[in-house]
Amino acid sequence: MIEVQNLCKVYATPGESVRVLDGLDLRVGAGEAVAIIGPSGSGKTTLLNMLGALDRPSGGSIRIGGQDISAFTPEDANRFRNRSLGFVFQQHHLLPQLSVLENVLVPRLAGDWQEQAAETANRATELLGKVGLEHRLGHLPWQLSGGEKLRAAVARALVNRPRLVLADEPTGLLDPATSERVAELLLRLNREEQTTLIVVTHNIALAHRIGRTFELVHGKLKEVVR
Ligand SMILES: Nc1ncnc2c1ncn2[C@@H]1O[C@H](COP(=O)(O)OP(=O)(O)OP(=O)(O)O)[C@@H](O)[C@H]1O
Ligand SMILES: [Mg+2]
Repeated sequence: MIEVQNLCKVYATPGESVRVLDGLDLRVGAGEAVAIIGPSGSGKTTLLNMLGALDRPSGGSIRIGGQDISAFTPEDANRFRNRSLGFVFQQHHLLPQLSVLENVLVPRLAGDWQEQAAETANRATELLGKVGLEHRLGHLPWQLSGGEKLRAAVARALVNRPRLVLADEPTGLLDPATSERVAELLLRLNREEQTTLIVVTHNIALAHRIGRTFELVHGKLKEVVR
C-alpha cells in the first residue's frame, strides 16, 4: 500500500536550511495500522504531509497503491486526497462559518459524491455519534472545546470511507476516556473497513495498541520493538 524509499525533506529558510527527513524508509501493507512517535520537531507532521501529497519531498520516492505520488499533477493530488485519503490535522482546520455537521460533510461536496445525499448525511451523523458529538451537530467551531474540535475533525476525515487515514495526534487534547473512544473508532475502522492507518502520537501505550510502532529520530524511522 505505502512504500517510502530514501525520503528526504529539507526546508529552505533565510538562515540555514533544515534537513528534517534524511533517507527515511517505510513500508505499510494495505489494511495495516502503524503508529509513529518521536520528539517534538523530529518531523512527524512533515512526514504525514508528504504521505498525504500536501507537500513535496526534496528527494526519494513515495508510492501509494502502486502510484508514485511525486509524479501527481495538482489534479491527481486533489483526486487522491478527496477519494482515498482521510487526514486528521494537528491543527483541526475546521471551517469557522460552518456547523459541526456541515464541516463533516465538506469532503462530500467535491467530486461525484452528491448522488448519495441521504447515505452521506447518515454516515456523517453516525460518525459524529461515534466520536460523542451527537449533541453538538449545529454548533460552530468556536462554540466547541479543543477536544470537541479534534473529534469533529476525526469524523470529517472518515466520511468518505478513505482507504488511507493519516492522523496527526488525534488524541492529543483529549482526556483518557475520550482518547480511548477516538482510538477505538480509528482501530474499528481499520479492522472493519480495512482502512490503512498511520497515527502520530506521543502516547506510547496508544502507539503499541495501534500496531507496529516506529520512532522518528535523526530523520529516519526505527521500529520500536515491544
Ligand atoms: N515550512 C517550514 N519551514 C521551515 N522549517 C520547518 C517548516 N515546517 C517545519 N519545519 C521544521 O521542521 C522540523 C519538523 O517539524 P514537524 O512539524 O514535522 O515536527 P513534529 O515532529 O510534527 O513536531 P510536533 O511533535 O511538535 O508536532 C521542526 O524543527 C520545524 O521547525
Ligand atoms: Mg507535528
